[in-house]
Amino acid sequence: MTPHNLPGQPHLAYRDGELFLESARLSALAQAHGTPLFAYSKAAMLAALAAYQRGFAGRRVQICYAMKANPALGVIELFARAGCGFDIVSGGDMDRVLAAGGTPDKIIFSGVGKTRAEMRRALQAGIGCFNVESEAELDVLSEVATALGLRAPVSIRVNPNVDPKTHPYISTGLKGNKFGIAHERVLPTYLHAAGLSGIRVVGIDCHIGSQITQTEPYLDAMDRMLDLVEAIEAEGIPIHHIDFGGGLGIDYNGDTPPDAGQLWALLLAKLDERGFGQRQLMIEPGRSLVGNAGVCVTEVLYLKPGEQKNFCIVDAAMNDLPRPAMYQAYHQIVPLQPRDEEPEVWEVVGPICESGDWLGHDRNLAPRQGDLLAVLSAGAYCMSMASNYNSRGRAPEVLVDGGQTHLIRRRETIGEQMQQEQLVGG
Ligand code: LLP
Repeated sequence: MTPHNLPGQPHLAYRDGELFLESARLSALAQAHGTPLFAYSKAAMLAALAAYQRGFAGRRVQICYAMKANPALGVIELFARAGCGFDIVSGGDMDRVLAAGGTPDKIIFSGVGKTRAEMRRALQAGIGCFNVESEAELDVLSEVATALGLRAPVSIRVNPNVDPKTHPYISTGLKGNKFGIAHERVLPTYLHAAGLSGIRVVGIDCHIGSQITQTEPYLDAMDRMLDLVEAIEAEGIPIHHIDFGGGLGIDYNGDTPPDAGQLWALLLAKLDERGFGQRQLMIEPGRSLVGNAGVCVTEVLYLKPGEQKNFCIVDAAMNDLPRPAMYQAYHQIVPLQPRDEEPEVWEVVGPICESGDWLGHDRNLAPRQGDLLAVLSAGAYCMSMASNYNSRGRAPEVLVDGGQTHLIRRRETIGEQMQQEQLVGG
């Protein structure tokens, strides 16, 4: 078999009838670490970052990796070394960034429900910016900062009421969503913020959704943000940075999102046109940096052909890969060692006791018991949303770097799962 790459997956290729991630033979990784197993390509992550960096050449931009997509310490470390900051959404996220060598001043803290304790710790650590999502949060943050004798650096997250044209669960910038402050309330909120003793206004922020594959929602959101910046600055409140959030989609199944560089060429042209070309920018990409860098390797446990459906039961499940069950998401599923046989149509399902535990419907495969399959585009929002449902330990993660492989997380044991619990006795 001649080597060939998979569409949209430049770091995955079949060589000698076997699937490789960079120079790592995935079947060898499965043998060494067991299945299910996540493997990530370092080169793919750095290539995705480079697409943004190319688009921003010559501009003042801080890329803050939205670590909710994949918060493995080994992944954070890689992005920290590449100069990224981080978009965090909890105190735990902050601890991960600090443990992996990230610097506090490049951290931005998003999320609608920050607790006082989280605010206090983030202020003490000296993070770069709080992206504030409600007027009530602003008042609490001011109180917490004042008590510490500090001023919290703040951006207000704008809800621009723009339809990102993605799955409803991952749309965030529409009026009916819980995120950000409604466009018409933004100016009064900045005026209020400017008078608070514990607040220092530094920027403005928005994030309209995730897995966005079109440019127009971004361009619309940008226009609405810039209108606000003009109105806020006209009141004498300087906006030092503009944060456009993340959200750029990836190719799961023939999706055609714009390349990060192309998207930003259009956005920068608009910024230039409106006189904001030299303003400090921030972005918070998650999925587009890691999604297509990862695969989940799983073993076929049993085949159960049936009258209505053929079930291919694998050892990965909705606890490892929750996106199909949660968002009816599509992930390509391919064999590690394809064989020359006529494929049939299979439902690829996990061992969990729910009909919602499926990984792929109607897939053309020629599986046999014991075969290994790869679930593609599994670098984002898979391990980060994994759970222990059905007392399943979370899978190990391997970072592939050319010919080298690093186990960045070992498989969770049942002992670790039970550690925080105790019997009542008596
Ligand atoms: N910034 C903020 C404030 C966000 O809420 C998010 C994602 C991001 C940045 C990063 O967005 P990205 O570049 O990754 O699209 N679990 C879902 C995705 C949820 C996204 C939540 N927010 C999924 O598996 O599709």
